[in-house]
Amino acid sequence: MSARLHILGICGSLRAGSLNTALLRNAQAMLPADASLLIADLSGIPLFNQDLEHAPPEAVQTFKAQIASADALLFAVPEYNYSLSGVLKNAIDWASRPPEAQPFAGKPAAVMSAGGRFGGVRAQAHFRQIAAGLGMFVLPKPELLIPQAKQKFNPAGELVDPEVCDQLRAFVEAFMRWISRWR
Ligand SMILES: Cc1cc2nc3c(=O)[nH]c(=O)nc-3n(C[C@H](O)[C@H](O)[C@H](O)COP(=O)(O)O)c2cc1C
Repeated sequence: MSARLHILGICGSLRAGSLNTALLRNAQAMLPADASLLIADLSGIPLFNQDLEHAPPEAVQTFKAQIASADALLFAVPEYNYSLSGVLKNAIDWASRPPEAQPFAGKPAAVMSAGGRFGGVRAQAHFRQIAAGLGMFVLPKPELLIPQAKQKFNPAGELVDPEVCDQLRAFVEAFMRWISRWR
């Protein structure tokens, strides 16, 4: 079945072994047949420069177009120094400009994190504040926070913890229901 629902996955980590990217891939595998998930490539996005906001670099234009054409956004948000990563904030800043043409407004979204001791709870709190400012509708519950994430994936990036697998499945199902409320 060709996908009827297009979700854009956005990860705040660029590293090859990113557990948050792995989490997106695991979520991708749990989607219903009529939904697809494309993972945005943030690696070519330079540091934000407001002088260029009306003619942004190509990587930013691509990212903005992907957001605009997506039915929903799934953010995988690592915690860096009690907040979200600079990579993610920088990409959001670019896409949020100019404000009258920002593509986030009105999009259903969800946020999940593979993290350290507290699973990314502080990063998610900051992310939710930013998302509210941009007019996204972020799934309120269930929350998906994975503490000590390194122990929950195998080296291939597959979730191997049965409890976390169940949590992710419930989260994906709730996100699907959430998206259908806004369409
Ligand atoms: C610069 C930096 C700061 C970090 N700060 C925190 C932090 O404040 N709290 C936390 O739980 N983990 C912190 N971590 C650990 C990361 O959240 C953890 O390594 C996570 O797996 C990174 O995401 P990734 O696997 O998708 O790259 C930090 C990691 C880095 C590189």
